Amino acid sequence: MSTPVENILVTGAAGQLGTELTVALQQMYGKNHVIASDVRIPREERQEVLGIFEKLDVLNPQSLGEILDKYHITQVYHLAAMLSATGEKHPKHAWQLNMQGLINVLEAAVEKNLHKIYWPSSIAVFGPTTPKENTPQFCSMEPTTVYGISKLAGEGWCQYYFRKHGVDVRSLRYPGLIGYKSMPGGGTTDYAVDIYHKALFNGVYECFLEADTYLPMMYMEDAIKATLDIMHADSDAISVRTSYNLSGMSFSPAEIAKAIQAHIPHFQMHYKPDFRQAIADSWPRSIDDSQARKDWQWQPDYDLARMTAVMLENVKIGVEQGLIV
Ligand code: SER
Repeated sequence: MSTPVENILVTGAAGQLGTELTVALQQMYGKNHVIASDVRIPREERQEVLGIFEKLDVLNPQSLGEILDKYHITQVYHLAAMLSATGEKHPKHAWQLNMQGLINVLEAAVEKNLHKIYWPSSIAVFGPTTPKENTPQFCSMEPTTVYGISKLAGEGWCQYYFRKHGVDVRSLRYPGLIGYKSMPGGGTTDYAVDIYHKALFNGVYECFLEADTYLPMMYMEDAIKATLDIMHADSDAISVRTSYNLSGMSFSPAEIAKAIQAHIPHFQMHYKPDFRQAIADSWPRSIDDSQARKDWQWQPDYDLARMTAVMLENVKIGVEQGLIV
């Protein structure tokens, strides 16, 4: 029996995760089977990386339906969302985009009988009443940001559509994601990408979080691996239909600065906390992801030292050769 052809739509494909995930999906399914989409038309360099591209506002269900039909889409990786820091500046739009966008995709999954949906959740679903260390899969969740509230509600919607309509939707609670191929935008964990750029090209970084603010983080390659692993696991193995805790590493700004100084001894860090400090303080310091390890054999490959070596080498090459899109 031959495996059915999968045609994949990625929403929010021009974002930090979308750019890298689209490429990984192209490698797996072939360039002609992966359709990148975003509300903004990306720069030419990025469009080249993304391959087949459609401008799509996920808040418009009709356009979404047309693209699903046009390319005979069978799976959607629905990444389009507004992150934590930007969400606090535009709370109503963040809610609308993050919630209605997801519901439009879930509704389309029912209507078009899509095989699978991927939707990212976040450590932002946790809040001040959550245990901070080794945060369990199931615990008190009282998020303080609009982003976190929307992700927690979204987890509920995913489980609802799975139970009520049999939509095979899978999800991960990403920590802060760190990669060199594309830049993040609007998140509280973004400092951990920016710092490598500033360390290499300015020798100094002003951090918007305090020195001892520990947050869960993950190298992009691990995040892509986790995403593809959960999407390729047997449906029966997925015991969590809200979203899985996922852990790579945890570090503070002081610790990442030290890891960078092992390569760039003159690197200096200054601290000037802003409104993002309160967001970071409401999130866990480390995550227990034993359920993901048990259900679909999740295991990360990168720690802070290994990631730092790879980031410094590749950010330098990437910026010099104009490869960072
Ligand atoms: N990286 C995200 C943010 O900082 C968390 O999911 O908003």
